[in-house]
Amino acid sequence: MCGIISYIGKREALPILLDGLYRLEYRGYDSAGVAVVNHDGNVGHIRTTGRVDELASLLAEHPIQGSFGIAHTRWATHGAPSVANAHPHADCKNSVFVAHNGIIENYAHLRAALEREGHKFASETDSEVLAHLIERALVLVGSAGTLDDAVSEALRHVQGTYGIAVVSSRHPEKLVVARRSSPLLLGIGDGEFFAASDSSALLRHTRRIVYLDDNELAVLTPKGYEVRNIRRKPVTKQVELLTGSPADIEKNGHDHFMEKEIHEAPEVLRNAIRGRVLHAEGTAKLSALDASVEKLSQINHIIFLSQGTSYYAGLVGKYMIEELAGIPAEVVYASEFRYAPPPLNEQTLVVAISQSGETADTLEAIREAKRHHVPTLAIVNVVGSSIAREAGMGIYNYAGPEIGVASTKAFISQLAVLSLVAVWFGRQRNLSVSRGREILEELQQLPHKAEKVLSMASRIHTLADGYASHEHFFFLGRKYNWPVALEGALKLKEISYAHAEGYASGEMKHGPIALITSGFPSVVLAPSDSVYEKSVSTIHELKARGGKVLAVATEGNTEIAKIADDVAHIPQTLEILSPILTVIPLQLFAYFIAKKRGCDIDKPRNLAKSVTVE
Ligand code: F6R
Repeated sequence: MCGIISYIGKREALPILLDGLYRLEYRGYDSAGVAVVNHDGNVGHIRTTGRVDELASLLAEHPIQGSFGIAHTRWATHGAPSVANAHPHADCKNSVFVAHNGIIENYAHLRAALEREGHKFASETDSEVLAHLIERALVLVGSAGTLDDAVSEALRHVQGTYGIAVVSSRHPEKLVVARRSSPLLLGIGDGEFFAASDSSALLRHTRRIVYLDDNELAVLTPKGYEVRNIRRKPVTKQVELLTGSPADIEKNGHDHFMEKEIHEAPEVLRNAIRGRVLHAEGTAKLSALDASVEKLSQINHIIFLSQGTSYYAGLVGKYMIEELAGIPAEVVYASEFRYAPPPLNEQTLVVAISQSGETADTLEAIREAKRHHVPTLAIVNVVGSSIAREAGMGIYNYAGPEIGVASTKAFISQLAVLSLVAVWFGRQRNLSVSRGREILEELQQLPHKAEKVLSMASRIHTLADGYASHEHFFFLGRKYNWPVALEGALKLKEISYAHAEGYASGEMKHGPIALITSGFPSVVLAPSDSVYEKSVSTIHELKARGGKVLAVATEGNTEIAKIADDVAHIPQTLEILSPILTVIPLQLFAYFIAKKRGCDIDKPRNLAKSVTVE
C-alpha cells in the first residue's frame, strides 16, 4: 500500500526511481511523484495523478538531473488522489521533501499546531505534517545539527505508522529514511545505496539488503550508510541476500501477472512441499515446529489470524487441524482480534497467515498476541517481512513474489503449508503413520494434478465468456470447499467488479436463495467428497428455481453434467486437499470474466497489494 523508492549514488537517479516505481506500482496507483536533488542543491519535484506511466511522460518532457532522490506511488488514505496530495510533500520553503507510507494518527493536532506557528499546508494529507515538522526541527537543531537530527526530532512528535524517505536541498548528498510499522529496507550497492518499501524495487540493482526494524533511522550518503535507533545510538545491522531472480517480477509472456501467477500453481506447490515430507514417519519436517515440540505438545487451542484471501486459507486450515489433530481451532479477522481478542492462555497457539507479511491488521494482531505471552507462528510468503520477523516461529511459503493484486498462487501455497502443519500436529497426537503418509503422498501428486487443471484453461475461458455479462453471482461450497466458495467470490468481485457472494451451501435456503430467479448464475463446488450428495441437492435447489449453475466436479463424474448447465473438472484427490485444486478453475473463471469485461486485472479499482494501514 503505497510504494517508496529512493536512491543515492553516482548514477542518474531518475531512471532508477522510475523503474522502482513501476515495480512498486502494484502497491498503489492513484498518483505518483519524484523529488531529485542535484549537487548544487537544485530540486526537481514533479507529481501527477494516475499511473507511473503518466509520471514518466511528464518527466520525459521535463527531465530532472541529479544523483539522489526519492519517489512514491500512492494509494490514497487521507485526501483524494490529486497532484497536491501526491508525494513527495514539501515544506514551506520547498527545501525538505518527504515520501511517506503509513498513517500519522495525530496529524490533525500537529497540523493545527504547525499552522498556528505560520506553516502553510498545500495538501489534505496526513503525510505533509512530516515535511513541516522536519522544517521546524531543522531550526531547532540549529546550524550544527544535521538533517538526520532534524528527522529524529520531528519523529518524536508523531503517533502512528511510517516508512519515510527524506531529502533536502540544503543537505545534498544525504538521504534519511526511517520506519515504524511500515516496511522499509536498504539496498547496498557498489558506491550507491537504495531504500525501498519492497524488495521488488531493488532486485535489479542489488541483492544485498538490510531490513530496518521499527523505530530505526538510516542515513545514506554516496560513501555508505549508518543505522540508528530512536535514542540515536548506532545499530549494527546484518546484510542479507535477496533470493529470486529479476524474471520473477516479469510477466514472462503472460498478459497479466495474475494469469502468470495462476499458472505457477504447480511450481508453487513443489516449492512449498520441497524438503518437508518425511515419508517413512508419515509426517512433515517443519523446522520451526520441530524446534518447539515440547511447547507445542501443550497446545489445546489454535487461532488463525489473517485477512482477505489469507483468512479463507485459515478457514481451510481450521478444518484440517481439527480433522487431523483434533485441536479446536478458530479463524479470526486480525482486524477484530486486535481490539477484541478471545480469551488466551499459554496453551493457545496464534497462527498469522499473510502473503505479504506486512498487512498492518495482521502485524498488529500478532503483536497483541505477543503482549498476552502466547506462542505465535507465522505462515508468510515474503521472506524477511515484518510478520515473519516478529512472530515467535515461522514457516515460509516460498511461492516467490506475487505481483497481481488479487492473490492466487499464495492462497494455493498457504493451503499446502497448512496441510503440512495439520499433518505435523496430527502426528504429534493420534494421527496414524499411514494416514499421514497418505496425505503427504497425495500432496506430492498435486503439482501434476494442478497442471491438469491448468491445461483446461481454454475451456474455462470459453465458459467464462458465457457468464461475463452477469452482474450478480453466488459461489457455494460445503465443508472444505466453503472457504473456496468465499475465495471464488472475492476473486470475481475484486477484479471484474461483478457482485459476487460466497456462502456455505447449507446457508442458501436460510435466506439468500430468495435472490435466485431465472438465469441467476451460481458456481457450485461439488467434488466427489463426503458432502457430494448435499452439493448435488444444492444444485437441484438452484435449478428448480431457474438458476444457472456452473459446477466444479471430479473427473469421471457424469451425473453432474446432467443437472448443471456447465461443468469444470478437477482430478480426483483427497477431500482434505481438494481446495488446492478446486480453487484453480475459480481463479481462471474470475480472470477470464474480468478480461472479457476489459478490466485492469493487475491493478483493480481502489485496491492495492499489501495493506499496510489499519
Ligand atoms: C485478495 C487479496 C487480499 C489479501 C489480504 C491479506 O485477492 O489479495 O484479500 O489476501 O489483503 O493480505 P496478506 O496475505 O498479504 O496479509
